[in-house]
Amino acid sequence: MKTITTLSDLRAARLSLTGTVGLVPTMGYLHEGHLSLIRRARVECEHVIVTIFVNPTQFGPTEDLSKYPRDLERDLGLIEPLGVDLVWNPSAEVMYPSGYQTWVEVEAMTRPLEGAMRPGHFRGVTTVVAKLFNATQPHKAYFGQKDAQQAAVIRQMTQDLDFPIEIVVCPIVREADGLAMSSRNKYLSEAERKAATVLFRALSAAKDLYEGGERDAEKVRGKMKEVLAGEPLAQMQYVSCADYVSLEELREIKGKTLLSMAVFFGKTRLIDNFVLG
Ligand code: PAF
Repeated sequence: MKTITTLSDLRAARLSLTGTVGLVPTMGYLHEGHLSLIRRARVECEHVIVTIFVNPTQFGPTEDLSKYPRDLERDLGLIEPLGVDLVWNPSAEVMYPSGYQTWVEVEAMTRPLEGAMRPGHFRGVTTVVAKLFNATQPHKAYFGQKDAQQAAVIRQMTQDLDFPIEIVVCPIVREADGLAMSSRNKYLSEAERKAATVLFRALSAAKDLYEGGERDAEKVRGKMKEVLAGEPLAQMQYVSCADYVSLEELREIKGKTLLSMAVFFGKTRLIDNFVLG
């Protein structure tokens, strides 16, 4: 496994890979969710490239980029046994050299949900992912369903910009008590960690309601709010019951539907989702 930091070394190493290449873009501080993406890429592609880059342009001014957890040695130790060919770990200067001024922006579907709460976030994500696609030239790229809107936005960008890349979205990996794995979970205090299971409980309650025949989206949103309100450490930011493709809020649940939420536990903001239908 080669770890590469310069673009010229990456280009040379990429040229030496013949056959299908799977890309797993990450911001590091890897957990089982990331490893599941790498394992899937390993099974489906002849070569696997993992990128580790904490992308500054997807953090808002009130989000603490400097506090984002980083541990490259630990990440490399986790990746090594999985049969990865290349790890691309560029610096911010390599990705955004002085004078940088080009952005990739997906429009309507970045406005609701995470886009409404984190202005500029998706512009940063799509810009860096487009650059990672150009640099690594993969055949397939792997993303987690936990960031459901991100996956949908990247799929749209890939289609709109004619990248010849298949976007593979892999299931959420959860702890035994249902909490979705996230690099941010490490910020939770013991009490917040226990309280954070309320996300899974709220989504499960909404799903039960749906499976019992409820199709009024407002009632399904109401159920998620009710469960969240029962947890004093949870500060809800939003709950949503939206069309899976357009991400527009629904009145009536008909086809494939995304239930999602963002909730603060102290200063830590967690997101989670279920897909219905
Ligand atoms: O999901 C992430 O970790 C990041 O948003 C991504 C896709 C690696 C882009 O920085």
